[in-house]
Formats: sequence, C-alpha cells, structure tokens
Amino acid sequence: MHAYSIMDPVWISLQNKQQVHNLANGVEIGDFCVQCHSPVAALTDLVENHTELSAEVINTFPPQVKEGVTCDACHLTTHLPDPTNISIVNHDYETVDFKLYSGDTRYGILDDPIDNDFHNSVYHPGYDKSEFCQNCHNLTVDERNAEITQFEWEGTAFQAMGMECQSCHMPTYAGQATVDGPERDNLHRHFFPGIDEALIDFPGKTEQRQAIEDLLQSAAEINFFDTPPDTITAGIVWNAKLIVSNNTGHNFPSGTTFPRQLWIELIATIGNDTLLASGRLNADGNLLDFYTDPGNELDPQLHMFNTILFNAEGDSGLLVVSIENMVAMTDRTLPVSGSRTVNYSINIPAGIAGELLVSARLRFRSFPPFYLRHLNLESLIGNVNIFDVDILTEMIYVSSS
Ligand code: HEC
Ligand code: HEC
Ligand code: HEC
Ligand code: HEC
Repeated sequence: MHAYSIMDPVWISLQNKQQVHNLANGVEIGDFCVQCHSPVAALTDLVENHTELSAEVINTFPPQVKEGVTCDACHLTTHLPDPTNISIVNHDYETVDFKLYSGDTRYGILDDPIDNDFHNSVYHPGYDKSEFCQNCHNLTVDERNAEITQFEWEGTAFQAMGMECQSCHMPTYAGQATVDGPERDNLHRHFFPGIDEALIDFPGKTEQRQAIEDLLQSAAEINFFDTPPDTITAGIVWNAKLIVSNNTGHNFPSGTTFPRQLWIELIATIGNDTLLASGRLNADGNLLDFYTDPGNELDPQLHMFNTILFNAEGDSGLLVVSIENMVAMTDRTLPVSGSRTVNYSINIPAGIAGELLVSARLRFRSFPPFYLRHLNLESLIGNVNIFDVDILTEMIYVSSS
C-alpha cells in the first residue's frame, strides 16, 4: 500500500478536488497531501500543478516519486519523528516531520547486516517502534483529533505488551532479506495490510488480499450481549442486543475513517417470512445510510461504526467536508480495547410459529460506491471487496402461544 500511495486513483482524484475546492476559497494547501503520499515528491518540490495531477503526469516522474512511500522514505530515517499537526488558522499545511538524512547509509532492524556494494547498512533500534510511523499515521488539525492511529494505540494494553504497529502490520517470516543473503528467521513482511487494496492493476494484489483476510480474521467479534432464550412466544417485539468487540491495536476503523464502512448486516427470518433485514445493500451497492436515505426511513435500525466530519458552517459528511476543513468529528468507531452494544427490535407477529433464524455479519469495505461515483471513479466500484470480519447465527424456537 505504501508503493501504491501516489498511484492510488482515489487519492489522485480527491487530491485534485481538494486543491480546487480550497483555491476557490483562497487557500493554497500545496504539498499537503503529497508529503505523506510521496515524501520524495514533496521534499524535492516536484509537483508544479497540484490541481491537475493524473496517472499520466505521475508516470513522467522519477521512480523514487512514483513509488510513493518508497523504501528510502523509511530506511533513511535516523530519529523517531513527531506526529503531524496542521493549522488551518495559520494556513500551515506542510508540516510532516521527516528525519531523513541522505547519504550512503540505510538503517534497519537487522543487527548483523551483510556488507554490500550499494549502501552501508546500520542497525537502528527505533525501527520496531510504533513512533516510527507517527509522522504519517497521526494527524491533528489545529490540535483536534483527525487521523490518530498512534494516539489511539498509546497507553493501551497493546503498548504495555510490546505489540507495536509492526507486530501486527509487519508479521515475521523466515527467509532471505536479499538475494544470496543468509537464511534468517526474523524478517518482516512489507504488505502493510489494513483494508485497502489496489483498485487498479498493481503488483502483489493476490498476496495483499490474503494478508488483509488474515489480519481481519480476529480483528473484531460479534456476540449476543445476553444468552438468547431457547423459545419466544409470538406476538412480541424481541429486543436482540449485540456486542461488537474490537481486538485491533487502535480504533476500528482507524486513520482515514470517514470513507470506511464497517457495519452489521442482520437478517431475521421464520421460514419464508423475513422479520427484519438490516444492513443490506441496494441495487447500486450502497447501504441505506444517511447518504442514500437522508430521512433514515428505509433501514432505520442500521448500525455503522464510522466517523462524520463537520466544517465550520456545520455541514457534514464525506461529500462536503474534507480533513483539512474539519472543525469537528463525530466518532462511532469501535474504541480500542473496547466494544459497542447495539439493539435490534424484531417484531414477531402473533400467530406465527417455527424456527426464528437470526444471522448477523460484521462487514467491512474501504469505500462505498456513491463515494467512488462522486470522485468520477465509477469504473473501479466493482474492484472493492467486502470482507466479513465475523459471523453470528442463532436459532430460536417461536411458539404461537
Ligand atoms: C499526515 C499524512 C497524510 C496527509 C497530509 C494526507 N494523507 Fe492521505 N493517508 C495517509 C495515511 C497514513 C493513510 C492510510 C490510513 C488508512 O488507511 O486509514 C491515508 C489514506 C488516504 C486515502 C485512502 C486511500 C485508499 O485507497 O484507501 C485517501 C483517499 C487519502 N489518504 C487522500 C488524501 C488527500 C486527498 C490528502 C490531502 C487533502 C491526504 N490524503 C493527506 C496520510 C496522509
Ligand atoms: C494488535 C494488532 C494491531 C496493532 C498493534 C496495530 N494494528 Fe493497525 N490494524 C490492525 C487490524 C486488525 C486492522 C484492520 C481493522 C481496522 O481497520 O482497524 C488494522 C488496520 C489499520 C489501518 C487501516 C485502518 C482503516 O480502517 O483504514 C491502518 C492505517 C493501521 N492499522 C495502522 C496502524 C498503526 C500506525 C499502528 C501503530 C500505532 C497499528 N496499526 C497497530 C491491527 C493492529
Ligand atoms: C513504511 C516504512 C517502510 C517502507 C516503505 C519499507 N520498509 Fe523495510 N522495514 C521497515 C521497518 C519498520 C522494518 C523493521 C520492522 C520491525 O523490526 O518490526 C523494516 C525492515 C526491513 C529490512 C530488514 C529485514 C526485515 O525484513 O526485517 C529490510 C532489508 C528492508 N526493510 C528493506 C526494505 C526495502 C528494500 C523496501 C522497499 C522495497 C522497504 N524496506 C520499504 C519499514 C519500511
Ligand atoms: C511517509 C509516510 C508514511 C510512513 C512513514 C508510514 N506510512 Fe503507512 N501509509 C502511508 C500512506 C500515505 C498510506 C495510504 C496509501 C494509500 O492507500 O493510498 C499508508 C498505508 C498504510 C497501511 C494500509 C492502510 C489501509 O487502509 O489498508 C498500513 C497498515 C500502514 N500504512 C502501516 C504503516 C506502519 C506500520 C508504518 C510504520 C512502520 C507506516 N505505515 C509508516 C504513509 C506512511
């Protein structure tokens, strides 16, 4: 995902849109987006026309830039960086702290590197620490929390147990770090799985998909809050209370939470009768959330775990507000080391009898279709995968009296 970060069509489209939007208000955000998505481009002031970036333009750039967060963006780091704060008030947008010192030395975590003809290799104890990632993975806007994966992780049991970002996102494997290098059992995968997948042709897609599936397997759990009864008598509204617990090292979702969709699909049926169906997609592939159904009439019991941004005018949402214009954010993500409970009212009409089947899935995807349409990326919609993080099924007997 780091190699993809500047070729990412969603990033390119949103970058241009935000530049145009801010310029219309007299604000120049310059390399604000570029600095984290391609540090070398920002550090060399390569991007001249910020409003018209495209894959064609980026393809004319040198490889170190096209590779986004390239090897050197990390392996020239000599000190742990600070988290990033931008200031709308002071129009101060290019503030990422890079501790990169060019030269012949590449730093890393191997304490017995083998000499080579290309660069010196030096051990650095900071490379397995979370703080290593925080210049890009922790953003505040005038000190207000925006994308704060590092702050969410700090002070948790994960930190106490030595579970750093790398522990989960760079799992170890045995192999060779380099062609003809020695066999080692302490190497680290560089797929950096989260939820993102390349939506265009890109190397390593199959491996990335597998790494995401592996990561998400135990990321969260969905359970009944109380043990459900064996039998229910018809003619009542049964209140199904579920608890969704987060096992990740930060909130879930984290980082760019606003376009992410994490939600519960809950279906309750008796025979061919559907008593409740919530969290299903419409014909366009969208959830019936407030973007699709502002009156919240079609799926009133929908439960999503997301954030909504607000600008100074009080307008909200993905389509209107972006992070650099944010003054407030509501947060319905699953808290780190925590959980959320949700209630579903299932109306069981009098006279009905049989087996009530309740099936709930916790589902996660990077982007909803309406958002990709908004960015003129309709053709990529089919490439977004939905991952089922956990599934819960229960059978309860309903007696008519
Ligand atoms: C402080 C560093 C930083 C800055 C500045 C920044 N980003 Fe990002 N961006 C990130 C990180 C880190 C992620 C991955 C986080 C995640 O997936 O939750 C990300 C993810 C994204 C994604 C989601 C990528 C995908 O394919 O899922 C988009 C789109 C994006 N950024 C657009 C922008 C735009 C547009 C700007 C400028 C207005 C911007 N970013 C500025 C660090 C930054
Ligand atoms: C205990 C394991 C664990 C640790 C520690 C951990 N993560 Fe994660 N991370 C996950 C899992 C599981 C997911 C997928 C669920 C989610 O999106 O939150 C994830 C997702 C992410 C995402 C994508 C989030 C999104 O919703 O777009 C980013 C970015 C990320 N992690 C960065 C980090 C950083 C930076 C750190 C260190 C501060 C870190 N992670 C620590 C397990 C972990
Ligand atoms: C986003 C930052 C980042 C990028 C980009 C990155 N690395 Fe790493 N790399 C790390 C970190 C962090 C470690 C150590 C992980 C740990 O100890 O937990 C590491 C470890 C290594 C090691 C030591 C062996 C191992 O697997 O631990 C080598 C060699 C290496 N990286 C080479 C590369 C090359 C080559 C590239 C580009 C193709 C690259 N890295 C891109 C962060 C990065
Ligand atoms: C120079 C900035 C930078 C540094 C340093 C950096 N990242 Fe990232 N990272 C990004 C950007 C930008 C993206 C989003 C790329 C995209 O999808 O467009 C990203 C994406 C990710 C993702 C995938 C997120 C998703 O939604 O799937 C994970 C996981 C991640 N980074 C973990 C790490 C970890 C762990 C470290 C430290 C070892 C680290 N990053 C260091 C900029 C950085």
